[in-house]
Amino acid sequence: MRVLSAIQPSGQLHLGNYFGSIRPNLEFIGQAEQSFYFIVDLHALTTLQDAALLRKYRQDAVLDLLACGLDPEKAILFYQSDVPEHMELMWILSTITPMGLLERAVSYKEKIQKGLPASAGLFNYPVLMAADILLYDANVVPVGRDQQQHLEMARDIATRFNHAFGETFVVPEVLIREEVAVVPGIDGQKMSKSYRNIIPLFGEEEQLRRSIMSIVTDSKGAADPKDPKTSVIFQIHKLFLSKSEEESLALEYRKGLSYGEAKERLFRKYLEVFGSMRQRRTELAQEPHVLDEIMAAGARKASAVARKTMERVREAVGLR
Ligand code: ADP
Ligand code: TRP
Repeated sequence: MRVLSAIQPSGQLHLGNYFGSIRPNLEFIGQAEQSFYFIVDLHALTTLQDAALLRKYRQDAVLDLLACGLDPEKAILFYQSDVPEHMELMWILSTITPMGLLERAVSYKEKIQKGLPASAGLFNYPVLMAADILLYDANVVPVGRDQQQHLEMARDIATRFNHAFGETFVVPEVLIREEVAVVPGIDGQKMSKSYRNIIPLFGEEEQLRRSIMSIVTDSKGAADPKDPKTSVIFQIHKLFLSKSEEESLALEYRKGLSYGEAKERLFRKYLEVFGSMRQRRTELAQEPHVLDEIMAAGARKASAVARKTMERVREAVGLR
């Protein structure tokens, strides 16, 4: 099994990204024979056009993944832009990708609706994503529901290519991580950087405390019974708990736990669970040369695989 995961460095990562994507992907990697985890900085350029910020988010994403336990000896960790074959393959794939396929992309339409300018890069986003996947002969790509259509497009593009030029690519499996629920943000909507309602994955303790303390609540009094199902605090807190811990916390809510105390407990739980990861992240941040070495080694290993695939592709289309 060859597992491939990627993350966009387009903002500060949050608990939704962790529970919805990073943690389950690391579990898949644990079971894989070979895996790739990369920072899709070229994709981030479609929505983030600020050099200083991109530079920061790129490095933050690496620190976050390493702190969360990604082992660069087990998964090849690299920046997408360090392997130019991604762009070369994207061009070749774009020549067999029907406009109609891209025009049906829900994610593109949503981004335009949110007010992003309709650039060619934004439109071609799914073709670059297909190149990311097909370059590494990945057979398992675990993604959230929001990426299902993009993955189906990658399968469609691989199948078309194989049909036109002969068997060249592995057609990847769509593996939707069903069990992961949508993590709510501090306002109760889906946690998302575009809604400005995130609880950061890492970040200053004070910033974290402030975001947890500002989670929405209803107007129930301190000692009133609370319904854990409708409490945003509980919905976030339970992500950190085992089934039995979740049940005993639910009982306390029903008996009447004050919202202030409930938030304090969530904050303490966060520090307990993320304490050692936070520590590791702080240490890693003080050693930028170690990060550079990890990323350079990752790029070398990824390039070796990507170059081999491109030899096959060039041969297949007649570019040699
Ligand atoms: P954002 O909505 O903040 O822009 P992204 O779209 O970059 O986040 O998220 C990357 C991945 O993280 C998604 O594909 C999804 O799998 C996961 N994810 C993001 N937000 C959530 C959430 N609130 N709940 C569960 N998973 C999430
Ligand atoms: N589009 C994905 C997201 O927003 C990121 C991504 C780019 C990706 N290339 C990929 C995910 C390849 C998996 C495989 O989350």
